[in-house]
Amino acid sequence: MHTCLFDLLADPAITHKSIIKRIVSHHCGRDLTDCIVHQDDTIDSETMRKILADYSDFRDKNKPIEYIVWRCEFLGRKFVVTPATLIPRAETEYMIIAVRDRIHDQYKKNSTDQFCLYDIGTGSGVLGVSVDCETEHRATCVMMTDIDEKCLVVARQNIERLVSKKYQHRFHLQKADLCDFLASSDCVFPKNVQHRLDVTMSNKNTLHHEWDTMTQSKHIHIFVANLPYIPDQAFFGSDELSVREWEPHHAFIGWDDGLDLYRRQLRQRSEWKTINPVRTIMFCEMMTWQAEILVREFPYLVQTVHHTFHANIVILSME
Ligand SMILES: C[S@@+](CC[C@H](N)C(=O)[O-])C[C@H]1O[C@@H](n2cnc3c(N)ncnc32)[C@H](O)[C@@H]1O
Repeated sequence: MHTCLFDLLADPAITHKSIIKRIVSHHCGRDLTDCIVHQDDTIDSETMRKILADYSDFRDKNKPIEYIVWRCEFLGRKFVVTPATLIPRAETEYMIIAVRDRIHDQYKKNSTDQFCLYDIGTGSGVLGVSVDCETEHRATCVMMTDIDEKCLVVARQNIERLVSKKYQHRFHLQKADLCDFLASSDCVFPKNVQHRLDVTMSNKNTLHHEWDTMTQSKHIHIFVANLPYIPDQAFFGSDELSVREWEPHHAFIGWDDGLDLYRRQLRQRSEWKTINPVRTIMFCEMMTWQAEILVREFPYLVQTVHHTFHANIVILSME
């Protein structure tokens, strides 16, 4: 019979001690240190029942701890995640560093440059929120899109939790198929886009004004994307059960060679540039061999490969 964290930690059947501490911390609403300092405090029986049920989901059903505690740490910030969103991965943090450094270099060359940030396939919103919090020169506008509306609800929570109130009005959330909101033939960016906004954190007047300013002053448009890039055969052949059984499949599977979505996004970008000859830079995460394919297929783009700690995963920037 367990009545406190001390009992749980002393139980030899509970082998994942760091996991049980995180579950207790989640259910008791206390941070980890506080839980450990007060490990003799009595936990009521209903809460203990939930703690043990969650632990058994983790141990017996491969449920990721991030979906149990609804949190995932990314570049030192705690993001809300739900089973509708991918659990952000550590290799993706390298994209934020690459974008931050690129923006920094740009400002060194021309301190009057301004930019607009697009997070395509935003999931929990980690890319848009992290770039915004990590860069000294903030974007005029941050557009975050996903094909799945449930993701936008989570992304919105993360904007509200992690971005300072005074900067939140620049964020816009939109349900979209990649960048279709830009490339549609009737879209003379930016004016028409506001009609397609499903969720927006600013009021329409502010938005209209910002986008007017952006087209006039020729912003640099920076796209960040960690789109599904795992070929379907590799995904279904993988033995990572916690991924296959718990994470949303449409966040991973990129079919055939895994590059269909990136190719489509690049086409949308080209179509848009024929209407609006603006400057764009795209940062995309993929496997090393996939980057080699895109570099060959799009030789007219200036491409840079940024390595991550993971030997097979890189960030490709294209401009
Ligand atoms: C690998 S997850 C990345 C989530 C988040 N950006 C991250 O790095 O943790 C890919 C995301 O792309 C979204 N997605 C898939 N197909 C899409 C499409 N055609 N247009 C927009 N988003 C899409 C999925 O819903 C999912 O949230």
